Amino acid sequence: MSIDPGSYTPAPDLLKDRVIMVTGAGDGIGATAARTFAKHGATVALLGRTRQKLEAVYDAIESDGRPKPSIAVMDFATAVAGDYQDLADSIDSEFGRLDGVLHNAGILGHRSPIEHYEVATWLDVMHVNLNAQFILTQAILPLLKKSDDPTLVFTSSGVGRSGRAYWGAYAASKFGTEGLMQTLADECDWMRVNCINPGATRTAMRQAAYPEEDPAALKTPADIMATYLYLMGADSRGITGQSLNCQ
Ligand SMILES: NC(=O)c1ccc[n+]([C@@H]2O[C@H](COP(=O)([O-])OP(=O)(O)OC[C@H]3O[C@@H](n4cnc5c(N)ncnc54)[C@H](OP(=O)(O)O)[C@@H]3O)[C@@H](O)[C@H]2O)c1
Repeated sequence: MSIDPGSYTPAPDLLKDRVIMVTGAGDGIGATAARTFAKHGATVALLGRTRQKLEAVYDAIESDGRPKPSIAVMDFATAVAGDYQDLADSIDSEFGRLDGVLHNAGILGHRSPIEHYEVATWLDVMHVNLNAQFILTQAILPLLKKSDDPTLVFTSSGVGRSGRAYWGAYAASKFGTEGLMQTLADECDWMRVNCINPGATRTAMRQAAYPEEDPAALKTPADIMATYLYLMGADSRGITGQSLNCQ
């Protein structure tokens, strides 16, 4: 399923009065998504592992004149259960609910055949890309339950639907993400839960995966925001358990 960016025009105030958390909000697609959601009226809870990057996004949102965001610094590689609960508690006391969550943070690991894939890297990628999303989702479900129109969006990939040589743990983690999304969507009839596949997009991760590629030939994060807005706003009511392509 995909949304034709040319035919979907999000209302300027699509996300007015919504509180939306974005993980990996300091860079790449997450940074653009956070800024775009704020432009459409959302108050954004910025989550990431590098304070300086989150502060730059915070400043950009403020200088755009948008609702004041919040910042939470958290490294999914090292966070423990209590950190997730502390995060949920602090969002609860600051905003009282979450209307949307974009699980976007992720790491690539390395590109190599399974035969030679480093076990330590495999465990790191599965933990950051999949386990952390499960633990965070469990901690924030009570906040989503307090929303009138909750929406949860996971980030997948083409290699999360069809395995491809040398994508190792990244591919396996994205298959897991699709499975987590489908399971949760089937359990939660009170909330929509979907996956988004950005497709090839000009970011540091893409450059690391394809160092020989000309980044100028790729869509930018700003080019693919229509599908993100669609899933975050009320226009996607009734859509759940789906995996949407941005391109
Ligand atoms: N770009 C593409 O072509 C493409 C295609 C398909 C799917 N995707 C998916 O889209 C999502 C965004 O990717 P991107 O291309 O924007 O990548 P990116 O530019 O590398 O950004 C990834 C973000 O995740 C954060 N992050 C990484 N590890 C983290 C950790 N341990 N704890 C907390 N935050 C962490 C990074 O924080 P720092 O900046 O502080 O490191 C960064 O903000 C990912 O889930 C990726 O798999 C991307």
